[in-house]
Amino acid sequence: MDILWRDQTLFKNMDVFDLDHLPEEFLHREQQLTQLAMDLKPALRKSRPINALCIGPPSTGKTTAVKLIFKEIENVSEDVIPVYVNCQIINSRQQVFAKIFEKIFGYPPPSYGIPFLKLYYKILEKLSERVLVVALDDLNLVIEDKTINEILYALLKAHEEVEDVKIGVIAISTDLRIAERFDASVGSIFHSDEIYFPPYSRDEIRDILSSRAKFGFYPNVLSDEALEMIVDLTHQAGDLRLGIYLLKMAGLEAEKRASRRIEVRDVEVVCRDGRKVFLRKGILALNSAERALLKIVYSTSEELTTGELFKRFRKVISIGYTKFYEMLLKLENLRLIDTKFEGGRGRTRIILKRYDPKIVLEALRDF
Ligand SMILES: Nc1ncnc2c1ncn2[C@@H]1O[C@H](COP(=O)(O)OP(=O)(O)OP(=O)(O)O)[C@@H](O)[C@H]1O
Ligand SMILES: [Mg+2]
Repeated sequence: MDILWRDQTLFKNMDVFDLDHLPEEFLHREQQLTQLAMDLKPALRKSRPINALCIGPPSTGKTTAVKLIFKEIENVSEDVIPVYVNCQIINSRQQVFAKIFEKIFGYPPPSYGIPFLKLYYKILEKLSERVLVVALDDLNLVIEDKTINEILYALLKAHEEVEDVKIGVIAISTDLRIAERFDASVGSIFHSDEIYFPPYSRDEIRDILSSRAKFGFYPNVLSDEALEMIVDLTHQAGDLRLGIYLLKMAGLEAEKRASRRIEVRDVEVVCRDGRKVFLRKGILALNSAERALLKIVYSTSEELTTGELFKRFRKVISIGYTKFYEMLLKLENLRLIDTKFEGGRGRTRIILKRYDPKIVLEALRDF
């Protein structure tokens, strides 16, 4: 019988579909992993590693690659201290070093506020024979160029402050032109090996999603047709995260109708609402002003620059540029938009839509 009883499930392990779950199989990224491993190899011999710059569009495995390498390093060496810093939630030099402090000492620095230099030297002196490797994930989401430069400078110049200190930096960015935000003093010391993470092809997306399904569902639960449909939708959206989300939702949908198999009809049901739900989660985190800003981005057919968008937004809500820029970064943080530097004209950014405008505007209408 093809009926699923009330307490039965299609999921072998539902956590596999969490977006921060480290995948059991990391496919099609051998080259990037090898490059990263080569850069970090000197650290295992207590030498300074080669700095790396991981760049590529969203959902191309940058965070995953670095987390997997860090896990591996922690397994094989006590002489290397890998520290992962998420720059989406950490935004100052002080916070980055507080994170490093916590990793090295095992407890956070005093919360009453410790002067930066004191914190800095405490860390450097404690390193002694060990090599520190700091990953700065989503570095492009740090608002101020000044902050980016302060963080990098403090890390890269440390060996001049305390003898024998060895620190490597892995910067991760979706903005291909992040290096243009480095000032001259950082540019001249941040020599890095650039590791590019290209978007996945349709076949690669299929491999990755069927691997997820293999670890997440019981055998033969996902029909080939349903998988193909999810692969198509993911490829169209250009976002692997959507595919992982759709797998989980289609599984739940099949369970809801007590089926032992996930069929195309389940994907149809979830993708009708799926992309909208996926977006709704992001939109839920926005206040009304931010939603208004998102609406302008998706209501305009042309690609706007930050300056043009600011002008239009000012007609709706009167705010200053700094506040506006913070709101824009939040939209980027939540992956509702992308921004890229415009060629030629200095620091001007262009706002890119990440989703079909029809779906975004529809999702916005529900609020
Ligand atoms: N090659 C892969 N094999 C298996 N899973 C992958 C692969 N690449 C990405 N993923 C999965 O896709 C999701 C997004 O990957 P990840 O967070 O590493 O991307 P990213 O490049 O850091 O994206 P962003 O720039 O948006 O932060 C994660 O759930 C991750 O497990
Ligand atoms: Mg990431």
